[in-house]
Order: sequence, then structure tokens, then C-alpha cells
Amino acid sequence: MEKNKLYFDGCDVTELAKEYGTPLYVMSETEIVNRFAALRKEFLEKYENTRVAYAAKAFFTMAMAKLAEREGMCIDVVSGGELYTALKAGFPPERIEFNGNNKLAKELRLAVKSGIGRIIIDGFGELAKLEAICKEENRRMSVLFRITPGIKADTHDYIVTGKKDSKFGFPPEDEILMEQIRQAIESEYIDFKGLHFHVGSQLFDNRPYLQALEVILELVKKIREKFGVEVSELNFGGGFGIRYTDEERRPYAYFLDPMMERLEQFCREESFPHPAVVIEPGRSVVGEAGISVYTIGQIKDIKGVRKYVSVDGGMTDNIRPALYQSVYSGVIANKADEEKTETVTVCGKCCESGDILIRDLQVPVPEEGDIFAVFSTGAYGYSMASNYNRNGIPPVVLVKDGKSRMIVKGQDEEDLIRNDLLPEDL
Ligand SMILES: Cc1ncc(COP(=O)(O)O)c(C=O)c1O
Repeated sequence: MEKNKLYFDGCDVTELAKEYGTPLYVMSETEIVNRFAALRKEFLEKYENTRVAYAAKAFFTMAMAKLAEREGMCIDVVSGGELYTALKAGFPPERIEFNGNNKLAKELRLAVKSGIGRIIIDGFGELAKLEAICKEENRRMSVLFRITPGIKADTHDYIVTGKKDSKFGFPPEDEILMEQIRQAIESEYIDFKGLHFHVGSQLFDNRPYLQALEVILELVKKIREKFGVEVSELNFGGGFGIRYTDEERRPYAYFLDPMMERLEQFCREESFPHPAVVIEPGRSVVGEAGISVYTIGQIKDIKGVRKYVSVDGGMTDNIRPALYQSVYSGVIANKADEEKTETVTVCGKCCESGDILIRDLQVPVPEEGDIFAVFSTGAYGYSMASNYNRNGIPPVVLVKDGKSRMIVKGQDEEDLIRNDLLPEDL
């Protein structure tokens, strides 16, 4: 590799910045494909009757839907928008699973009409709503119930979802849950498949998963005792941690092998037919596959306090540092091999003091016009982007072996006013 050039999936990042402009999201097809391959090897090919539903919320576009389809994945969507995107990309509807704690009637109708594979029931009124829609459309729908196993995983509070005090799912001991499951079993429009849980995100410890599984297995027993029905599918959610700075990434097998082993043991001991198992990884597929590329603008050196290096994007294209205090790493792409002599704080251009991308980063002497790349921004970056301060959402480029192609156009000023209306009386 040439000196002072940062390459990403064979592409010179500074050249990408020149060709497409900045700010820019760059996604590596090779890395995404490698992650899907790891999921096949460590899960799909190792265990029978398993599925991987890529969690679209992490990063989703029509091109991403195509990649997931080509690599043999299912897709987990959480909104009508994600569902629409998948369908428009020609993704097979029967491989789509729908999560979310407040699915709207119109979203449920689109799901039913298009014949998606699963709906994960996530609230007390949802089953009745879904049943009514199925009846009107004369269709059956397969469902799982999302359970909050009451496990507090060791991660940021906003990304813990499996603890009891959560807007997601049903507490396992709740009688309303059993009542809902009974209704699902008895309904001629609903095919009750099983249970779903998701303990949290960016996890490095397999113990919360195993603890959650115990809660779920108890419930599986209870359902058989009460209704004589054997749960035929379990969904373990996603949450597998990735490297942002110096985290030690664990293989999928580290999480999945002990869970599959425990399930196997349970089935043997309880004479239970082995259920299908689904997982929903998002971040671990696309997180490290993405970088964000910026141009350095104003540099403000407050002597004895801090040196601020401003870039031409910020919290609008990556809200995670402001939202979760997430920590990232980055480099000056055109000075990739220069000695790091300065400590700087990289900030965005939005009108918020909290618009800081990276604090106290070691870099070579930064100058206006340098190209700055932030690593591991592939998950929950583009998908959480906003138009705050009427900044346009940057384009997304997919790179592979030195070739690049745009998969999402950037927004220009015209895009920003496209839906504005000027009433005549103004
Ligand atoms: C139900 C569910 N499944 C899957 C995921 C994906 O998690 P991750 O991107 O951490 O793998 C989430 C994330 O919040 C989720 O809530």
C-alpha cells in the first residue's frame, strides 16, 4: 500500500472523497459478505433448521436487501419503511420477519398482504389487531411472542432491551401473555410458532443470552403443560458486539454454541422436538464494514484546554456519540502513516455542543482540507441519520476490491425543501 494513503476494501479513501465528495458513507461489500459467510459457517451450516434474519435497522437500503438475499439470509424489519424497501428490492416476502413495539395497522396490513414469513407480537393489543387484518385479507400469519426475560445485560442503558422495565415484549410470568398465546393457538388466522427474545446490543458476554434462554425454556415447558402445544421456533435476537476502538470481538460461535448445546440438552431431557432457531444480527454484520469520510474544516486551538477539529458532517450522519456516548476511532486518511503528535477532539458542524464525534484522538498535525475517516460506522450511522440543521444525508458508496458504486444518492438542498409547502397567505 502506498505511504500516507488509507485503503478500504481496495479503494483509496482520499480518492473516494474526491470522486463522491464528503461527508460520505463507505460500505465494504467484502466485509459484509465475510460476516454472512461466518454466520453460515458458525450457525446455519453447523445447526439444522436455523435461519439468520439480518436486522435491517442497523443499515438498510435496496442494495443491502439484495446482498442479504444473495447470501441466503432472511431479514428482520421493524417498520413499514424497512418492509417496503425490502419488497421493492424484490426480497422474498416469506423470508421477512417483522419486529417492533408499536406496529401500525397500515404496517401490519402491508405485512399480511405481502405474505411475509413472521410477525413478532410485541404488545397486548397487537394479536387482536393482526387477527382482524388477517380475517379481512383472508390470510394466515405465523407469529412468535417477544418475551422480556428480565435480564440486564452489561451495555449502555438505551440499548438494553431484555430487562423487565422495557417498552419491548411481554414479561414471561404475566398471565396476559398466556392468555394471548392461548388466543393465538386457537385462532384460525394465526399460526403460533414460538417465542422471541433480544437481550441487548453490543454484547461481549454470552451469560445474559444463556440466562435469558433459561427463562424462555421454562416458558416453553409451561406452554406445553397448559396448552399441550410444543413451541416449534425460538428467536434469540441479535446483539453480538463489534470492535469500535479496542474491543475484543467474539466469534458468533462463542454466543451460539452454548445456547444450542443448552437447547439440545433441554430437548433431550424433556423429550421435546428440536425447535427451529432464528437469530437477528445487525451491528455485527455491517458495523465494521462501514467508515465515514469527512473533510476537515475549521481548527480551533484553545490553548491549554482543547484543540477542536471540525468536519463537514457530525451528529446528523452519526448520532451515536451524542446519543449513547459511543466511542469511535479515526485517522487522517491522507496522513495515514505520519507520526501522531497531537491530541484533538473531532467535532461536527451542527449547532449543538454535544456534536462531538471523537474526543482526545491522537493524530498527525491536522490541516484544513485533510480527509478524515471514522472507523466502524456501518451500523446505526446511516440508518439513524437526520436532517438536523437542514444538513443533507450523505451518499452511501459500496466498495469491493478497489471498485466503488453509489447505492444511495446524497441529499442536496433541493431534496431538503422537496416536501416544504408555502401556503398562499404567507
Ligand atoms: C429485536 C431486535 N433484534 C435484533 C436487533 C439487532 O441488534 P444488533 O444490531 O445489536 O445485532 C435489535 C437491536 O436493537 C433488536 O431490537
